[in-house]
Amino acid sequence: MNAPFAGESQAKSLRGTISVPGDKSITHRAIILSALAKGRSQVQGYLVSEDCERTISAFQSMGILIEKKMIGNVPALEILGKGLKGLSEPENVIDCGNSGTTMRLITGLLAGQPFFSVLTGDHSLRKRPMKRIVDPLQQMGADVLGRAGGTKAPLAINGQNLRPVSYALPIASAQVKSAVLLAGLTTEGCTKVLEPGPSRDHTERMFEFFGVPFLKEGKSLSVEGGQPFKSRNIDVPGDISSAAFFLVAASIVSGSELKISKVGLNPTRAGIIEVLQKMGADIQIEPRQTASNEPIADLLVRAAPLKGTLLEGPLMTSVIDEFPILCIAAARAEGKTVFRDAKELRVKESDRIERMAEGLRGMGIEVETQDDGLSILGRPDWKGTFCKTDGDHRIAMSMMVAGLLADGGNTVDDLNCIHTSFPGFLDLLSNLAYT
Ligand code: S3P
Repeated sequence: MNAPFAGESQAKSLRGTISVPGDKSITHRAIILSALAKGRSQVQGYLVSEDCERTISAFQSMGILIEKKMIGNVPALEILGKGLKGLSEPENVIDCGNSGTTMRLITGLLAGQPFFSVLTGDHSLRKRPMKRIVDPLQQMGADVLGRAGGTKAPLAINGQNLRPVSYALPIASAQVKSAVLLAGLTTEGCTKVLEPGPSRDHTERMFEFFGVPFLKEGKSLSVEGGQPFKSRNIDVPGDISSAAFFLVAASIVSGSELKISKVGLNPTRAGIIEVLQKMGADIQIEPRQTASNEPIADLLVRAAPLKGTLLEGPLMTSVIDEFPILCIAAARAEGKTVFRDAKELRVKESDRIERMAEGLRGMGIEVETQDDGLSILGRPDWKGTFCKTDGDHRIAMSMMVAGLLADGGNTVDDLNCIHTSFPGFLDLLSNLAYT
């Protein structure tokens, strides 16, 4: 196994109470809305990670003052918002690193700003599809150019006066809907988005929280652009996508009993709990309160035998980021688990279907891949393997969780990528499982 697990024998039960870092999706949006508000906002419990650092630097490069501090042991940001027209032209290219959310949301925002900007990213982000945001923004009158006929980053944005549109999303995507809504936020008039199915609704909740004129009617979302709004203090809940690694780890390592406190339980994100419970997991939810228009709860998970399941349609969409760690749960479950309707997995930080299939096969598990998913036949005896991550944080963390039970442990080719979303992950896991 990779350090800090090198030479360790099998894991012991995971017991105690932990908390996970702030929600990544909410942190990005909190920074964006705070920068556009008038006045000083405080973002408490924000996610300190490489992805969110990219969004912070992007706004700093556009003249927004952002100060980092600690409130007790909680990291916080103080952001001095300058209003809807307060951004200034960045002197240099904005590097979004590995962060698809930074690139897609900020492109939407910058399409309507009166200046020129260029956005790029790392090797993985430059391969990911951008046509999905460029198309609706061009309908609004945006001038966005990109590599590969405008479909890939780097993207060059020549800011324009946009016009509001009504746009029917071809796919359920929170990043695409947010790009259009953020373009609409700075555009006079009413911009409308029609969703084909649910996707995470943090942008909508954050609009409401900041008092942006916004309306949701069924599948239709509209924002009245050009209306100034005031700063707010935001409390970021724990990231359920990070909690997911520990929900699965505690479910599969016998004798475990783990409490995870203050986890965001937004219904568009909580599918992981429904899926694991369907598989037989023992998870109890102790509701707490609402933090900045997002529900939060403590989760109590105990080890339990799991069984295979079928995952498709909107439930699959709601656990799209949890697919790698759900593969590990499926590999431990009795019987077969089938994932369908998940073609998007092919264009995430890596091709997650191929990466997980290869990792699981290395552990001696039978896997069949399809274009839009895969099926896994669970088994109780795993061999340790070496796994290629393609720099994908969620593949690395999932394979390290699997390493708790694989004979000889697992090794991955890149542990640094974990800093994308969860810098303290390895310490937390090794403290629970080996000390
Ligand atoms: C995100 C949306 C999701 C998710 C991604 C974060 C967001 O992608 O997979 O990790 O913060 O808006 P989609 O745009 O495909 O919904």
